[in-house]
Amino acid sequence: MDKTTRGHLISAALQARRHAYAPYSHYPVGAALLTKDGKVYTGVNVENAAYPSGMCAERVAVFKAVSEGQREFEAVVVATENGGTPCGACRQVLAEFGLDMAVVVVNGNGDVVLETTLANLLPASFGPEHLPRNKP
Ligand code: THU
Repeated sequence: MDKTTRGHLISAALQARRHAYAPYSHYPVGAALLTKDGKVYTGVNVENAAYPSGMCAERVAVFKAVSEGQREFEAVVVATENGGTPCGACRQVLAEFGLDMAVVVVNGNGDVVLETTLANLLPASFGPEHLPRNKP
């Protein structure tokens, strides 16, 4: 991913984060997911009074994108206040669509605190290849 694209994704994640609905944790998260055909889908965490009913920003972005026909992703940028990294469930959902995806984590100022791949974040992962008879 080139620097310009990365900059656009960082801006999109920071901007999306402003719409996070996080009245319980007070930990707003924004995500910006880049498809291989160059589109950007954003997501935010959406909490709920019934706590487990909430959803993380990264998964919102993936579900938005997949629901619009996208399945191939190049990169995801995640924006949190303090550079917190994607949770395990989000890593698993992202991994469904390819371990070579770039993952960039930025803090609330937009500083890059981690740049890696999903393969690094989720080693020895379980994925679609383990279910060979399961045709997507
Ligand atoms: N959260 C995310 O949106 N993404 C993550 O990967 C980690 C956690 C959200 C869930 C919850 O709304 C808040 O951050 C605190 O856990």
